Amino acid sequence: MEERVGFRMEITICIGSSCHLKGSQDVIRILERLVSHYHLENKITLKGSFCMGECTSDGVCVDVDGERVKLLPSETEAFFTNQVLKRLEGQP
Ligand code: FES
Repeated sequence: MEERVGFRMEITICIGSSCHLKGSQDVIRILERLVSHYHLENKITLKGSFCMGECTSDGVCVDVDGERVKLLPSETEAFFTNQVLKRLEGQP
């Protein structure tokens, strides 16, 4: 299968104070570990952001290529394998 040159998924994790209290540092640590485990450093960019304006919700605010999701640390690995890896598999 030919790899599309230049495709990168961007995942932005909120590190604002409300999300920090919900475990944003753990979410980041888990995502970093998974990106490394699956050797996806060239496919995924992880970024931090100040408050993304959705602090009232349950979980840490995470933006995946423009789509907002809420993640608790305990949900992060399942989200990565069920959503992120599937989306990457769908790329030509
Ligand atoms: S602190 Fe994360 S959305 Fe506000």
